[in-house]
Amino acid sequence: MPTLDDDVAQVLISKQQLADRIHELGQQISLDYAGQDLLLVCVLKGAVLFLADLMRQITIPHAVDFMAISSYGASTESSGVVRILKDLDTNIAGRNVLIVEDIIDTGRTLAYITQNLHTRHPKSVRICTLLSKPSRRELEIGLDYVGFVIPNKFVIGYGLDFAEIYRSLPYIGVLKKEKYQC
Ligand code: IMP
Ligand code: MG
Repeated sequence: MPTLDDDVAQVLISKQQLADRIHELGQQISLDYAGQDLLLVCVLKGAVLFLADLMRQITIPHAVDFMAISSYGASTESSGVVRILKDLDTNIAGRNVLIVEDIIDTGRTLAYITQNLHTRHPKSVRICTLLSKPSRRELEIGLDYVGFVIPNKFVIGYGLDFAEIYRSLPYIGVLKKEKYQC
């Protein structure tokens, strides 16, 4: 029976590498926010697996909330015009917000989210992204925690999708070229 793994050209970041790095990020975040309030804001859907593993590596008390965003535009490229599909349940005024994102590509989505959250008067807003593709950046974004810097390749797995599939792969992989074209 064909499996999702058959569509992967290359494993870029293994399951073990993900676990090791997320453990380090969790330790760093626990140190940085020790004794302080902390609210993790997960951007649906791609960051769900990352959030689930990261929060189990954070050893200090923290809350979580979710936001869903859609970007408009005809192409598969991020248009930068963003709409909130699901807003936070939490009032973030006076809170330390840590945005948990799967990948920063052009930076447009995150620029919108951070701008939007700042209007709600949080105490602080920082960003924790599993992946960053700096070669694609269009807007300068200050990233506080970065799991891995990756080359300009379309990646799938560990929450990241192509046409909503492949999120369940336990590693980050590069999708085979022929899969884009069909
Ligand atoms: P940005 O606004 O260009 O930074 O786009 C970020 C969003 O595009 C991410 O949250 C992902 O949903 C999506 N994206 C960008 N690059 C990839 C990729 O390589 N694989 C899967 N999704 C991606
Ligand atoms: Mg995303």
